[in-house]
Amino acid sequence: MEHLIDIQSISKQDIENIINFAKAFKEGKKESDVKSKTLALMFCENSTRTKCSFEIAGQKLGMNIINFDDTHSSLLKGESLKDTIENLYFIGVNALVIRHTLSGIINNVLRLVKYPVKFVNGGDGTHAHPSQALLDYYTMLEKIGTVENKKITIVGDVSHSRVAKSNIALLSKFNADIHICAPSYLQFENFEAFNVKYHNDVKEAIEGANVVMALRVQNERHEKECYPDSSEYKRLYEIDMELLKKYAANDVILMHPGPANRNIEVSGELLDNQVGKTILEQAQNGVYVRMAILNTLLKGGVYAA
Ligand code: CP
Repeated sequence: MEHLIDIQSISKQDIENIINFAKAFKEGKKESDVKSKTLALMFCENSTRTKCSFEIAGQKLGMNIINFDDTHSSLLKGESLKDTIENLYFIGVNALVIRHTLSGIINNVLRLVKYPVKFVNGGDGTHAHPSQALLDYYTMLEKIGTVENKKITIVGDVSHSRVAKSNIALLSKFNADIHICAPSYLQFENFEAFNVKYHNDVKEAIEGANVVMALRVQNERHEKECYPDSSEYKRLYEIDMELLKKYAANDVILMHPGPANRNIEVSGELLDNQVGKTILEQAQNGVYVRMAILNTLLKGGVYAA
């Protein structure tokens, strides 16, 4: 694995290797191989979980961390992202995590950069968020053992969701039974491209589900106000306790990549009780999965227990 740009370009073995390393880091059975390497966090779009967990992952690995501030950088003087990254490499950066509003920009800049800095996609537009899919998969394995033939229902704004796309790409590799539920105005435009089952009705979508993953309604990416409004979305698609108890599997796990619109996609009651705690555990697992990603990109190797 040279870089982590999207799930499609890494193998099943790469994914299993990252999961094994993450588990070993979490259990304290693996030491860092990348002490004193330097990681730059280049976040050109807002983030809490991805940025902070990559920063803590880097710290736990003994790396030097540079928080690249795009609002005070020479990007604003007209320097290209390619030139900025090549300069960062010569200054001493070994790996960088990039988050950007533009879909596909990381693939484009990776093709232009001539020096061997490692790239991690921290979420680009509506394209991909591979480290989120990996930490989601890690959390599912921890909770339900396997995803094979398990019903996993993703509910919400899939049309703008890099998380949904990366999760579908990953879960397909492991033969999960993937269901998508969204109002027609938030559905994938090219839905035939994804080998999943579609629903408009949330009750039908979560019937017997082992995992229900709610997605944030991404108002900032909507070109115009969505019809119907958020109260109508809440009425039809909000995941609450009654819905889960009545329709999902008894031991269903509730997930959300965060940040959540409380009482729109998921009820406040669920977020604050034991069922909602899985969402916080996703964020916690993100630290170990991101340690595994950084260690693997910079050192390589296959985990052997
Ligand atoms: N899930 C996720 O990417 O959250 P942040 O936007 O807070 O990083």
